[in-house]
Amino acid sequence: MPAKSHSDPSALPHDAESIVKLAARSMFDLFSSMAQGMMLVDRGGRVVWINDAYKQFLPALGFERAEDFVGRPVEEVVPNTLMRHVIDTGKPIFVDLLTNKAGTFVVSRIPLRDAAGQVIGALGMVLFDHPETTLQPLIAKFARLQRDLDEARRELAAQRRPKYTFASFIGASPAALEVKRQARRAARADATVLLLGETGSGKELLAHAIHAGSARAERPFVSVNLAAVPETLLEAEFFGVAPGAYTGADRKGREGKIKLADGGTLFLDEVGDMPFALQAKLLRALQEQEVEPLGTNRVLKVDVRVIAATSRDLKVLVADGRFREDLYYRLNVLPIRLPALRERLTDLEPLAESLLESIALRTGMPQRELTPSAIAALALHRWPGNVRELRNVLEQAAMLTDNARLEAADFAAILPAQGADQPATATATLRPLPQLIAELERSSIASALAATGGNKMSAAKMLGISRATLYEKLAGPK
Ligand SMILES: Nc1ncnc2c1ncn2[C@@H]1O[C@H](COP(=O)(O)OP(=O)(O)OP(=O)(O)O)[C@@H](O)[C@H]1O
Ligand SMILES: [Mg+2]
Repeated sequence: MPAKSHSDPSALPHDAESIVKLAARSMFDLFSSMAQGMMLVDRGGRVVWINDAYKQFLPALGFERAEDFVGRPVEEVVPNTLMRHVIDTGKPIFVDLLTNKAGTFVVSRIPLRDAAGQVIGALGMVLFDHPETTLQPLIAKFARLQRDLDEARRELAAQRRPKYTFASFIGASPAALEVKRQARRAARADATVLLLGETGSGKELLAHAIHAGSARAERPFVSVNLAAVPETLLEAEFFGVAPGAYTGADRKGREGKIKLADGGTLFLDEVGDMPFALQAKLLRALQEQEVEPLGTNRVLKVDVRVIAATSRDLKVLVADGRFREDLYYRLNVLPIRLPALRERLTDLEPLAESLLESIALRTGMPQRELTPSAIAALALHRWPGNVRELRNVLEQAAMLTDNARLEAADFAAILPAQGADQPATATATLRPLPQLIAELERSSIASALAATGGNKMSAAKMLGISRATLYEKLAGPK
């Protein structure tokens, strides 16, 4: 076996300095053959050298001959270059996108130092030209990820943004204005709010609006519907579960709704349906502002504002022993009673208009209008399901006809005929006369207003009363 000889020119040198020199030279050669072009700039930022490959870019940069390019300050000949910045900072920019009149390039810029470590210039390389084609898969992937990220951010923002604000609560009747006034005041306070009112009267809408108008608006709004969650799951829903707390529990555990609402608002919907056993536990959690997730001994501090809603008569539930009195008082701090739709029939038209608009937006069909006869017909209905029922009725009517204007006849098949099986009239004889008279008065006023397109002067004339009396009646009982 022949011994290695120092004189063998193909052998790796043994002294470190020669090795590093060799490595540097190899790297330079490699880059210069790989790169689409190279340039050297001196400490003053003047181009001192370009390689042959770089010459391909000269025409696009506006130069015919290399002699016109070399010797010029780099920013004069290469728009948007950062070579000067590299010289000034002494820091390389390994990968960057440079765009100018010649195109978009992936470039690399490295400072050059002398033996003493002083920056004496910089090396610039064009790694890829037309990256939009050469790096197509990479750039496409980046664009896709960026798009997904933007979309996720938008969705998240939309979820956090309150669904409803006070402006979403349509109605200018005295009753509606009073509710909005109370709700605005409740939004400014941090106390517990209790929303009372018939089904479909807008309790959930108002809960969102109060949160959105409160100092907690930027924090979460978390709702728990006590009528919708099975009783056996409610406790875990409220308080959360430790990892593996019991068989069947999520392995990772689960955060409770109270904790999730930390800093924000906890909406207890259908609070009258809360199981009796849970009431004491919830009351304690709300009073102490503390929760203990199931299967832990840890107590978590929370800061939640409660808004509760129910369509049931909580006082009756308390009297029946089905709702804890102490919890009732804890919730009944700022009670707000939402009027039924039949108590604010003057709002029927603007409500219908706004609902027809949202139905049109959702279905993509043109927006319908209501004729005065249709409004009069709607005003005669008792609306036990309130605004939700109104929305359903309008939606059904819009489905049944293509007419741009919905007439009274279009609602005939949808609204139960007055009389027949209508509870309002079926039990009419069983109710106190003053109540009946008040109702008749209300619906007559509504019909008259509807018939006159809201003109109070002519409505009063139709009814044979003065305008002042009409206003008085619209304002409701004092
Ligand atoms: N004043 C209002 N202005 C506009 N839309 C309303 C108004 N009140 C209620 N709505 C609409 O009517 C529907 C029912 O309202 P919401 O869900 O708030 O009622 P609710 O009182 O919570 O009913 P429930 O007791 O049945 O849960 C929703 O689509 C809501 O947007
Ligand atoms: Mg509701």
